[in-house]
Amino acid sequence: MYEQITNTACFIRNKIVAEPESGIILGTGLGGLARRIEAEVCLEYGEIPGFPLSTVEGHQGRLIFGRLGDKRVMAMQGRFHYYEGYTPQQVTFPVQVMKELGVKYLFVSNASGGVNPEFLRGDLMVITDHINLIPNPLIGPNMSRFGERFPNMAHPYDPELILLADKISEEMRMKLRYGCYVGVTGPSLETPKEYGYYRIIGGDTVGMSTTPEVIVGNHCGLRVFGISVITNVATDGPESTHELVQQEGALASTRLTGLLEEMLRRI
Ligand code: HPA
Repeated sequence: MYEQITNTACFIRNKIVAEPESGIILGTGLGGLARRIEAEVCLEYGEIPGFPLSTVEGHQGRLIFGRLGDKRVMAMQGRFHYYEGYTPQQVTFPVQVMKELGVKYLFVSNASGGVNPEFLRGDLMVITDHINLIPNPLIGPNMSRFGERFPNMAHPYDPELILLADKISEEMRMKLRYGCYVGVTGPSLETPKEYGYYRIIGGDTVGMSTTPEVIVGNHCGLRVFGISVITNVATDGPESTHELVQQEGALASTRLTGLLEEMLRRI
């Protein structure tokens, strides 16, 4: 596995102009952020050795290298989900490639369903903690070059980056929510009782991504920032559809882009 990661990183390194400082994983409907990147190099997943292919509707599959908010970034336009049939290791492979390419910060965005009754569709929630209910991608032999067997997860989302987001959002007069993201396998959405259950165990939102990448990011020492667009809420009932998720994601994209760009400028 380590060899595959170094092979992939080596292939990419030969194509790019400079090492990226930050990695960005763009979630559902948030591809708009990609347009703000002054792209230097784009690589389709299909042309990168070792990369899985993205299958879900609305997710393109490419890596974009360039500048955003004055910083060098690499962005994944399209991510891999466990529900698509990838192994947890395939889902998180790109994060290890990012690390190998010199990335220090990992920015992750996603769409999620609000289980905190105060949350509204279209809200942005800074992820301050998570509950992972997807098989752990670190199961198997430990890659000690990347990190410890039992990585500490006391601060899965970097407290300084959370504070920075807080400060910038105040300056921008942008309302942010803060809370706990529950990562589930999907692909079925939650039953009413499941939404209730995720609330009882301490969740504020629920979604089908992010926790695997964040675990692997922590394992290899990346500083992680996660933000979630609430695209639907538990009480939506039959109205919750993939189309709604996409629509709300697109609507939140401008705000999210502004915030992330400014964060990048200041790190
Ligand atoms: N549940 C799970 N995943 C999601 C949801 C949801 O309600 N909305 C967007 N992703």
